[in-house]
Amino acid sequence: MKIVGISSSPRGKNSNTLKLLNAALEGAAEAGAEVESIDVAKLKIKYCTACHSCYEKGVCNINDDYQGVLEKLLDADGIIWSSPNYITNVTAQLKTVFDRSPLVIHEQLFDGKYSLSLTTAGSDELDFVLGIMNNFMLNCGGNSIGGVGWPVARGPEAMEAAIKKSREMGKDLTEAIKEKRQYPEQEALHEAFRERFKHIILANKDEWKHNCDYWIEKGWIKE
Ligand SMILES: Cc1cc2nc3c(=O)[nH]c(=O)nc-3n(C[C@H](O)[C@H](O)[C@H](O)COP(=O)(O)O)c2cc1C
Repeated sequence: MKIVGISSSPRGKNSNTLKLLNAALEGAAEAGAEVESIDVAKLKIKYCTACHSCYEKGVCNINDDYQGVLEKLLDADGIIWSSPNYITNVTAQLKTVFDRSPLVIHEQLFDGKYSLSLTTAGSDELDFVLGIMNNFMLNCGGNSIGGVGWPVARGPEAMEAAIKKSREMGKDLTEAIKEKRQYPEQEALHEAFRERFKHIILANKDEWKHNCDYWIEKGWIKE
């Protein structure tokens, strides 16, 4: 079982958020997962150009480090998203990865995968940023086991508590994957997404050939 952790702070090894990611990956490894971490802030990933190639052909037209990241995510059973709060959002580095992933959303390619989200902030504004990462996972067809946030101004106790919780959640992510944990409310969201998105796929079927063929193959659209 593989779990990939995504780090997205530009502060490299000095990153607060990386402390949580490392703890979560340690917990996951203790529970038996093979773990790997990718720092997307160190990679060359360009902005999506909205060319629609991925809708038409199932491949991105831009040749850069995104493909390698996507391959690792598709090969993983679990993903740990991590980002500091940057202006009440994820970092531009992580948002660029999200923006390059419409194929993952259109074809629900994280179906069956599980994620955990981690954030740190100068303030107590943690849940909104965790929600952005959780929501991305749900939109990609995956499940989220939740998140951990560390309000850094709250002193060393808050740091210790967040590191401890990240380690526990890393273990729990591994357990969720092992037991194929069901989240009925998330499954209802996936079903609602497929029902809603079916009409968008059908409305664009002449252009979004790859997406449409995939939906027919999955049985989400009947011919
Ligand atoms: C450009 C920038 C924007 C930030 N925006 C916010 C913000 O909107 N709210 C907040 O609470 N903290 C904000 N912070 C503080 C960071 O979230 C905080 O220092 C975080 O722990 C940094 O994580 P890192 O060490 O992993 O990069 C911001 C920091 C920077 C550099």
